[in-house]
Amino acid sequence: MRHTRIVVTHYGGPDALRVVEEECPEPGDGEVRVQVLDAGVSLPDLMMREGIHPETPRLPFTPGWDLVGVVDRLGRGVSGIEPGQMIAALPISGAYAQYVCLPQDELVPVPAGLDAAEAVSLVLNYVTAYQMLHHSAKVKPGQRVLIHGAAGGVGTALLQLGRLAGLEMYGTCSLRGASAVSGLGGIPIDYQQLDFVKEIQRLTRDGVDVVFEGIGGTHIWRSREVLRPGGTVVAYGLTSSLRGGRLASGRQGGRHRFRAIAIFGWYIAGSWLLPGRKRVIPYSIQWLKRLNPALFRQDLIALLGLLQQRKIVPLVAQLIPLAEARRAQELLGDGGVTGKIVLVCSGCPLLTPERYKNGTRRLTALDASDDAEPELHRKREPVMVLWMTRDNTNSGFVDYFGGGADGMDNRSLVGRTSNSDGRCTLASCHLPLDTAKDRRGATPVRSPIIASVIAVIRRQLSRIDGLRSSRARHRRGTRERSRLHD
Ligand SMILES: NC(=O)c1ccc[n+]([C@@H]2O[C@H](COP(=O)([O-])OP(=O)(O)OC[C@H]3O[C@@H](n4cnc5c(N)ncnc54)[C@H](OP(=O)(O)O)[C@@H]3O)[C@@H](O)[C@H]2O)c1
Repeated sequence: MRHTRIVVTHYGGPDALRVVEEECPEPGDGEVRVQVLDAGVSLPDLMMREGIHPETPRLPFTPGWDLVGVVDRLGRGVSGIEPGQMIAALPISGAYAQYVCLPQDELVPVPAGLDAAEAVSLVLNYVTAYQMLHHSAKVKPGQRVLIHGAAGGVGTALLQLGRLAGLEMYGTCSLRGASAVSGLGGIPIDYQQLDFVKEIQRLTRDGVDVVFEGIGGTHIWRSREVLRPGGTVVAYGLTSSLRGGRLASGRQGGRHRFRAIAIFGWYIAGSWLLPGRKRVIPYSIQWLKRLNPALFRQDLIALLGLLQQRKIVPLVAQLIPLAEARRAQELLGDGGVTGKIVLVCSGCPLLTPERYKNGTRRLTALDASDDAEPELHRKREPVMVLWMTRDNTNSGFVDYFGGGADGMDNRSLVGRTSNSDGRCTLASCHLPLDTAKDRRGATPVRSPIIASVIAVIRRQLSRIDGLRSSRARHRRGTRERSRLHD
């Protein structure tokens, strides 16, 4: 069986990403082959492509820190896990692929019914946010925090979890992210127009208890300035090392794993010499996971539970097919992305972002079984649901309350993660908000080529129709004229 994966061929810009078709990997002893459903796209992926992240592998390598997939094949010595089980993992690299082999102890089970794109948003971004809030800063309800890059992947996770923790939150972001930040309970500060230090002093008078600092460099010291006495800066990122998705320094390629981290460490150590009762502490998800893998597992399971209860709802900025990984990284590098970009590795998203914006919303399993269903029952409205299976074997529209399509049970489509053989997983279900509009749009989903061929045939038919009727009119007119003449 063949599969697709993305390979970084040289350290540098998005052109370093190549789509490769090859034989599926076979699981070794103690390993599990996973069919990747969704992989996350994050700034650390871009930093690794540029060669400056401390985790950057040697060339060629497949990027992708985080994934959600389905157990496909077990290697020798693996037990306690079944094919078809949905799992999440943080392999740090390798997730931009349709199949990947991972050690069994890397896999965390994902409860049935969760949306893979939402679940994958938890693995890197929400675990980072959760651990910084509860293990590094140990926040308490009522505390005041500043979140830098608040509209980004980790930033929106910090806002959602900070709201649950009862925090008063301020968030730096560009103008484009301001509404998302306020929607998640933060007070936005436009970092491109305002000096955040002055703005925090103006808004709060005495500063904040914690700053979540993902920007790096001298920004760490400026963040320290807005702390109340006894406050903490949690330094965790190097966003400022990139500009427009490329190295801010303008240097060309190469694997420099320790350069950026040395500068990062220098600014943290330097801050310890500054006067005042204020702390600056580093955080790294990969190091905490290496030192305490049980904690990573426990925190991810807790977050999956919160997602199941809809206490957190990750913002999925865009679903992009795996083969377009380059476009996904370019989008993230260009900035202004709210939430998480997700690569769909198995199957492709039928619902385009445009369609998503124009009056449809994702219908997750929980929406279907808990919240949305009673509400729809009350309205007694038939609703079109666009569905597809992950392996593309089946797709179409079903009338949510009007019986299943192709003899299949709607309820088993909506939000169920696998079919009878356990390998064909539902990609997504979408519940149109505007039913009438979507009924019009509910023609079978066709490829653009077939659609344009059909459009041409229709145009020709209507022209032939038009010609026929004008000939008929002409014949009628001639008959009328000859009758009048007689
Ligand atoms: N230590 C860890 O374990 C760990 C784990 C995960 C991520 N990280 C780090 O966390 C950082 C964020 O990652 P991400 O995937 O969430 O990236 P992201 O989704 O691209 O978010 C970054 C955000 O920062 C904003 N931003 C850029 N420059 C800024 C500035 N000077 N002031 C305030 N905001 C600014 C961007 O806004 P605009 O685009 O609108 O300008 C964007 O919304 C990265 O540095 C990454 O390496 C660290």
